[in-house]
Amino acid sequence: MKKLIVGNWKMNGSVQEAKALIAALINGLYADEGLLEGCKFAVCPPFLHIGNVRHALHGYPKIAIGAQDCSALENGAHTGDVSAAMLKDAGCRYVIVGHSERRSDHGESDADVKAKAEAVLKHDMIPIVCVGETLEQREAGEHLKVVEAQVNGSLPDKSFGEIVVAYEPVWAIGTGKVAGIAEIAEMHAHIRALVGRGVWILYGGSMKPDNAGEILAVDNVDGGLIGGASLDADSFLGIARAV
Ligand code: PGA
Repeated sequence: MKKLIVGNWKMNGSVQEAKALIAALINGLYADEGLLEGCKFAVCPPFLHIGNVRHALHGYPKIAIGAQDCSALENGAHTGDVSAAMLKDAGCRYVIVGHSERRSDHGESDADVKAKAEAVLKHDMIPIVCVGETLEQREAGEHLKVVEAQVNGSLPDKSFGEIVVAYEPVWAIGTGKVAGIAEIAEMHAHIRALVGRGVWILYGGSMKPDNAGEILAVDNVDGGLIGGASLDADSFLGIARAV
């Protein structure tokens, strides 16, 4: 199975910076057939930049577009929200839901995340459902139980549509502290047992070119969700090469 490498740009970048980043990614990835053969790629810009990124990707179908969140609601009087239908119309193939930053900044519960994931599936896109324990939960030995509850509570019913799960230990996001190989292997095997074979399981949390090869070789790691390193084309390409 090809690995899936997803860049999560988070709340970063001016219009010009987003255009420059996608141009550099297109140049780098399309210059190397081997990279496109070995992996599937997606970038998740802020909503504001999706239109420009789509425009830049015209003629480069091997880089998909994702969004970082969506509303669970269909449409209407919900100021500031963006619906799954709008994202589909804007060219998105993936939507990240339940990222730990949204769970903490916006108090999103597992039920909220599940409703968003279902909206994404309903509009023929693929939800990337994020789960992951905090440092306190890991130190208390509760990490498997916590993630299991998140998986059970946040994933839509398995039977309908393609789903991606991203395991992102909260303590490894943006901290430079990557989870150990044994920790990743244990959690990914646990998630695999819960979700079965048909679901992609990504690892996220301080993935960089120098640790990506080792992480992506772990059993049940089907790809990566990359934050900080996805803002730099060379780092993102370096991760792709590490596969
Ligand atoms: P990071 O973020 O790679 O900067 O740790 C990963 C994520 O939050 O998706």
